[in-house]
Amino acid sequence: MSFMDLLRRRASIRHYAAEPVPADKLEKILEAGLLTPSSRNLRPVRLIAVTDADAVHALAECKTAGAGMLREATCAIVVLGDSKLSDAWIEDTSLSLFSMQLMATELGVENCWVQCRARQAATESSDAFLHTLLDLPDNLSVEAVLALGMSTGEEKKTKDVPSLHEGQVFLGKYGVRY
Ligand SMILES: Cc1cc2nc3c(=O)[nH]c(=O)nc-3n(C[C@H](O)[C@H](O)[C@H](O)COP(=O)(O)O)c2cc1C
Repeated sequence: MSFMDLLRRRASIRHYAAEPVPADKLEKILEAGLLTPSSRNLRPVRLIAVTDADAVHALAECKTAGAGMLREATCAIVVLGDSKLSDAWIEDTSLSLFSMQLMATELGVENCWVQCRARQAATESSDAFLHTLLDLPDNLSVEAVLALGMSTGEEKKTKDVPSLHEGQVFLGKYGVRY
């Protein structure tokens, strides 16, 4: 698949089949996360692979809305940044997460980003909830959870290549049409 085709094909999928994500695919997805550059090469990204179904489903409580697909996911990767090690941990974790999304797409593993930084669980922040649930040390901050699962077989549309003329890209100065 060309890189442009991979980008066109990637989509946030929130329903999954019951079969588990094969271990070799999970390993490649994790490797993609680690192959991603980081600011000053400080590598503040930490990943927790969650493969036990009940443990994955428990992650769904990390926020009050937008995490329901974790009740169906068969696997998840909790994406953490060492905020004491690098002030660019948000950028670094986000880049790693997107690499993992693209790798998962290439491997036919459906996925969805579940934002946790600056989000709320029922009675506390998503970050505090996940610190307790996963026994996280204080130096780690939670960026997001990547929900993973195999396809239900539902047909997916690929995206169109966006037009450069629709108000997001300018030439030389803001407002000048490219
Ligand atoms: C930073 C970020 C946070 C997101 N958080 C959530 C989320 O918490 N729950 C969710 O269902 N989707 C989440 N998404 C998925 C977006 O809703 C999705 O990427 C967007 O609607 C475009 O759809 P597509 O990914 O299928 O192209 C997030 C995506 C990004 C990039």
